[in-house]
Amino acid sequence: MSPQASLSRLVSRSAAIRSLRTAAETIPSTSIKVLRVVDAVRQWRKPHMANMRSVGLVPTMGALHEGHFSLIRAAARENHHVVVSIYVNPAQFGISEDLASYPVTWDTDVAALARLDREFADDGANLGRISAVFAPPTSEMYPSGFPGQEIDSKGSFVTITPVGEVLEGASRPTFFRGVATVCMKLFNIVQPDRVYFGQKDVQQTVVIKRMVRDFMVPTDVVVCPTTREPDGLALSSRNVYLGPRRRRVAVVLSKALRAAQEQYDNEKLDRKDILGAANQVTENVLQEQMELPPSQRVTYEVDYISLADPDTLQEIESVDPTKGAVLSGAIKMKPVEEPQEGEDLGHSGGPAVRLIDNIILAPKVE
Ligand code: PAJ
Repeated sequence: MSPQASLSRLVSRSAAIRSLRTAAETIPSTSIKVLRVVDAVRQWRKPHMANMRSVGLVPTMGALHEGHFSLIRAAARENHHVVVSIYVNPAQFGISEDLASYPVTWDTDVAALARLDREFADDGANLGRISAVFAPPTSEMYPSGFPGQEIDSKGSFVTITPVGEVLEGASRPTFFRGVATVCMKLFNIVQPDRVYFGQKDVQQTVVIKRMVRDFMVPTDVVVCPTTREPDGLALSSRNVYLGPRRRRVAVVLSKALRAAQEQYDNEKLDRKDILGAANQVTENVLQEQMELPPSQRVTYEVDYISLADPDTLQEIESVDPTKGAVLSGAIKMKPVEEPQEGEDLGHSGGPAVRLIDNIILAPKVE
């Protein structure tokens, strides 16, 4: 075979493989495309760019709940097309964290997206619909090979410091590097006009806003309010680990933050007054639990309760009422002691669960 003939055979074979890879599935009885590779997203995106149709991206790790849905609803109100990404990004899990047991609920996620999209079709207030789910394999997201989860892993990373080093970053040193890196990849792949993030992960929003600003990423970051259970617990994919015994006590974190917020609402600006109220709640609830027998009680460790500057997330001694502040906290719910016969311990046998939450203290004066 002549060199030209073998070259053209090679080209047509790779074009065939490419079109196989980019052939989109759709979620049954919807027009939502399921895209698995970068090329497929690029092909999908191109005409919308040319036709000036706006695209909103909602990055998720799946195990979708009402918190995620609130972001998708906001994106559908403001964009012609919504893309939801579902990708459990290994780079943001530390080596001893819960990557292996992180809930994966693809079938129910897809069914929920189909339901939500039907809701959008019936609601005239929406500009757009869910057009695509991007659910790539790790080989697609890390084309030069996955760099590893270790702190000193070598690879192409985006690091945003110092905001990524405090609070969550202090306990999870590779977390925001992983988040910023995967979000930069997702933004470059989808090229969204707007990206949607939840207030629930306040530090993540600060890191992403800083990344977008410092790297001139042409997208707007939209932050949506935290969705909560009726008792105040912030919804989280990780809540499935809790089981009923720990679920009842898990509300302590939002209660503590609300007690601190009350101080601010009552004109207190000093750290000791504001955080004192939160610490009182976490101490009292733990004390109550310690008075119960081990077969009934729940114990936890407070990692931090923080009062921080809203832009830098550095700790502050008093709130500047023209700026407000971020009140945030993290607690580790320990596995239950003396599990009872038949007790539901939660997903994956009820391991230790780290819960985070926050409240924004809004500025009081112009
Ligand atoms: P995940 O935990 O799946 O969350 C996806 C998005 O949903 C985030 O922006 C998060 O803040 C938001 N969210 C979660 N719980 C919420 C709640 N109760 N109310 C409102 N919004 C909520 O955050 C991640 O995934 C990942 O770090 C990701 C950004 C996808 C990068 O891998």
